[in-house]
Amino acid sequence: MLNSEHEAVATNLLKKMSLRQKIGQMAMAERLSVEPADVKRHGLGAVLSGGGSHPGGNAPEDWVRMNDAFWQAAMADDDAPGIPILYGCDAVHGHNNVQGATIFPHNIGLGAAGDARLVAEAARVTAREMLDSGLDWNFAPTLAVVQNCRWGRTYESFGNDPERVASYGRHYVEALQAEGIIGCVKHWVGDGGTRHGMDQGETTLPWQELESTHVAPYYPALQAGVMTLMVSFNSWNGEKCHGHRFLVTDLLKERLGFDGLVLSDWDGVNYLDEDYGTAIRLSVNAGLDMFMVPERWREFIDALEAQVRLGHVSTARIDDAVRRILRTKLRYGLFDMPRPAQRRGAGTGCTGSAEHRDVARRAVRESLVLLKNEGGLLPLGRHQRMLVAGKNAHNLGHQCGGWTRSWQGETGNDTLEGTSIWEGIRELAPHAQLSADGTGEDADSREHEVALVVIGETPYAEGFGDIRSGDALVVEAGSTVNGLMNPLEPYARSLELAESHPEDLACIRRIAAKGIPVVVVLVSGRPLAVGRELAASTAFVAAWLPGTEGGGIAEVLMGNADFKARLPLPWPGDADPDGAWPLFPAGYGLSYSRGGCGLLGA
Ligand code: BGC
Ligand code: BGC
Repeated sequence: MLNSEHEAVATNLLKKMSLRQKIGQMAMAERLSVEPADVKRHGLGAVLSGGGSHPGGNAPEDWVRMNDAFWQAAMADDDAPGIPILYGCDAVHGHNNVQGATIFPHNIGLGAAGDARLVAEAARVTAREMLDSGLDWNFAPTLAVVQNCRWGRTYESFGNDPERVASYGRHYVEALQAEGIIGCVKHWVGDGGTRHGMDQGETTLPWQELESTHVAPYYPALQAGVMTLMVSFNSWNGEKCHGHRFLVTDLLKERLGFDGLVLSDWDGVNYLDEDYGTAIRLSVNAGLDMFMVPERWREFIDALEAQVRLGHVSTARIDDAVRRILRTKLRYGLFDMPRPAQRRGAGTGCTGSAEHRDVARRAVRESLVLLKNEGGLLPLGRHQRMLVAGKNAHNLGHQCGGWTRSWQGETGNDTLEGTSIWEGIRELAPHAQLSADGTGEDADSREHEVALVVIGETPYAEGFGDIRSGDALVVEAGSTVNGLMNPLEPYARSLELAESHPEDLACIRRIAAKGIPVVVVLVSGRPLAVGRELAASTAFVAAWLPGTEGGGIAEVLMGNADFKARLPLPWPGDADPDGAWPLFPAGYGLSYSRGGCGLLGA
């Protein structure tokens, strides 16, 4: 709903702004490519931190100081009206760029937990930690409805059920915005439905299916008043979303009545045409309002100005874009806010607080899916002599996954604060022992009654996590993803865990061969073909990417809480990696109390 006072302020400002100032508002720069003085000189609308991009020190107060400098520059007194700046980042599982933040399970785990209120709680905590850093805008939640777990962004999705994504998206947005952080639903639209699960790929679907699977999950969030939306890198039936007038203007803005701000993805306009001016024209005319042009923002401003002067982009379109940007700032109350350091919620020190970590630990407990429990091996007893092995047993980086401190994620325990899975076990089971080199070589049936082996993926983000499919080799060594060199070996990832991480199966078999029953905990951003690992183990738990609060895993393994999660998407069998005949259907999950078959409703 439009607020007449806001519209009047926006009209007034638009009258006073030059064309260049208006275009400046349409640009979002990355912090490493922009100085506070540029913000004023070029009238920039927003600044972002890319994944892992943080001010020196990386404590919440460093972020406050940084945004303070941008804000003060934007508001400096001279002939141009001071328009306060927005600062955005991807806090996609907690405020994940910041030192000491509470890291939640990635969305796939929240999808498994099946509790919309828990999603709202996670959003609330994330918002509070962002406010503590003096920030405004979160590029979340992701409303992708994943269709193929080969996709490297599977873990950013709540699952393959559009209704669940719709419900969780709305709860996330409502909670985040109620706490005082701007939400951004993404990526519009069809990101989860690309062929072969290829990131930024091609979604080929008739309109009815695009609508029911990928568009519909946005309706409740739009109704709840989400202030911004990010356009997707993918194409729909051969046409890039960043240049798709039907999807952005006709559908989103006109038919669905979205009156907020439409943001591009990271250099998403680049892929529309080789000529930058043409690419920008196509995108602006398709209806995008603000452009994430991290390093190229100067070029963007010049090129868009030239397009307007040439008559290729109308001033009415520019005014509409800038009005939406100003409207968003007015709705958020930005014009009435003091500098970031003086805002409500800034510098409270709540980042990583015990209270916040408790919420995340509950989310971990509730996201674990029990896939196998032969002979009731679980729950483990606190006095059992237990060996804990596997490469992900004591590795906070791995258990957090991508989008944690850095874009592609971390490895080891040096950069993150939290409780590793091993540390959680040790707290509850005083006789547990960590395998010296993690491989389980030191397993000994006279000493160990049971072994816990924590296996799985290592971190990745976006296209770097894609898995090849048949002839469609998605990521090759030497190829680029978003213009960056791909560090992987060709065929480095496989849907079969035993292929991409043979050390995991070796560890399970090594221990099981000594007659010690093995409980496997799989840390992964998605289901994987794990037939051999399942066969070699006695109990098996899918833990997704749990985040910093590994203690939640120990609580459930030791029986202090029951398993309550169910698969949020089908689990592929080894012979059928495309999931047509899944090994476990969506909704599957065992528990202590339900025992045997844990199908939904059973
Ligand atoms: C991703 C977005 C993200 C943006 C900013 C892009 O590469 O696709 O999800 O919000 O980067 O980090
Ligand atoms: C940034 C990410 C962004 C990506 C896009 C990275 O350098 O950290 O936020 O999504 O580039 O290519």
